[in-house]
Amino acid sequence: MSKGVTVWFTGLPCSGKTTIADMVAEILREQGEKVERLDGDIVRKSLTRDLGFSKEDRDENISRVTFVAKLLTRNGVKVLATFVSPYIERRQRSRDEIGEFMEVYVRCSVEVCIKRDIKGMYKKALAGEIKGFTGVDDPYEEPPSPELIVDSDKETVDESVQKVLEAMKKHGYL
Ligand SMILES: Nc1ncnc2c1ncn2[C@@H]1O[C@H](COP(=O)(O)OP(=O)(O)O)[C@@H](O)[C@H]1O
Ligand SMILES: [Mg+2]
Repeated sequence: MSKGVTVWFTGLPCSGKTTIADMVAEILREQGEKVERLDGDIVRKSLTRDLGFSKEDRDENISRVTFVAKLLTRNGVKVLATFVSPYIERRQRSRDEIGEFMEVYVRCSVEVCIKRDIKGMYKKALAGEIKGFTGVDDPYEEPPSPELIVDSDKETVDESVQKVLEAMKKHGYL
């Protein structure tokens, strides 16, 4: 059985987590790997649709997702998880629970994220229309020692994708 792993992408909204992970998923599927995607926007409409964005609800969101990722990972699936997941301590608990785990910090300045603003959420947060938005009026705790950092405000998408694939190889998952 191929070796399962959860590659956990963390970073500000609009940093590029979904874009990079979707492309990695496509490449790995073409190579015949078993791949699953767990994405914040999708999970929050299904598995965790009852939750909001308080610290407690963010914690519960990641807790449920971590449970699913653990089951998949132990069955040999490459899980690509994309969540803002702003708290160091919560990500650490996911790492401990899942075991086979790589953290990818999708690093991008908040200024560039605001320029991208693909869903118009920063605009609403900056106007005070939504509260507790990460990067505006809610904290983001940078990973102190992730397996990989991609600088999505300096690299092309392709470069970031290649770096993820190389890191997965280096850690023995490909
Ligand atoms: N190196 C890069 N990596 C990822 N996305 C990038 C990069 N450079 C530019 N982008 C763009 O930034 C945006 C990121 O959006 P998205 O992936 O939805 O972010 P997130 O899932 O982190 O909220 C996309 O429009 C993407 O094309
Ligand atoms: Mg996303």
